[in-house]
Amino acid sequence: MGLFKNYVSQTRKPEGFLGKMMLRGMNLGHAKMADWGFSHLPKISVSAAADLGCGGGRNAGELLKRFPDAHVTAIDYSDLSVAKARDYNREMIASGRCVVQQGDVSNLQLAAESLDLATAFETIYFWPGLEKCFEQVAKVLKPGGLFMICNESDGTDAASLKFEKIIDGMKNHTVDQIEEALRAAGFSKVKSDHHPSKPWITVLAKK
Ligand SMILES: C[S@@+](CC[C@H](N)C(=O)[O-])C[C@H]1O[C@@H](n2cnc3c(N)ncnc32)[C@H](O)[C@@H]1O
Repeated sequence: MGLFKNYVSQTRKPEGFLGKMMLRGMNLGHAKMADWGFSHLPKISVSAAADLGCGGGRNAGELLKRFPDAHVTAIDYSDLSVAKARDYNREMIASGRCVVQQGDVSNLQLAAESLDLATAFETIYFWPGLEKCFEQVAKVLKPGGLFMICNESDGTDAASLKFEKIIDGMKNHTVDQIEEALRAAGFSKVKSDHHPSKPWITVLAKK
């Protein structure tokens, strides 16, 4: 595998030296888009939240800041992401407000109907079957709970389509495909927004 392909493939499941480098970059590189995503959240009361495919843990940290009464679980299937997210959120872990769990979103190990909010930033491209994974999210949300997806790609932009060809197992989804999978997974209300000048999308779904 060429170095470039190997490096960009670390977005799917960070591993080894290149994975460590990628994780450092992701916490910084995704912050603007993630904050744009967070701006879509309505004022809700959150006592339990989860960030799925948490990578380096920056967005779990944002959830902890934005919802000071919430307990946040950060989940990722990569050893390296889990280690980095634990380090990033070490103070909140020590104070009992955060746990970082190694796990796969296609088989979530969280109690049914336990979350007010679940978030997924820049990760659903790699999930093994949107509808199946969204069903898992729906299962762990309380009735009325919210699921927010935020992607840098709207599924049609040239740059992301190029990466889809390079990274094995990556799939860029259009808003229509995401909305359809959410409804099929049992979400009742789905609302999307497209950034005015970038291919960024935020999809909010209510259980
Ligand atoms: C591009 S990174 C994004 C990380 C972080 N959400 C961010 O915005 O910076 C994608 C992350 O999703 C994780 N991931 C991909 N598929 C997953 C799955 N099926 N279950 C759990 N984590 C997954 C990867 O290990 C990686 O850490």
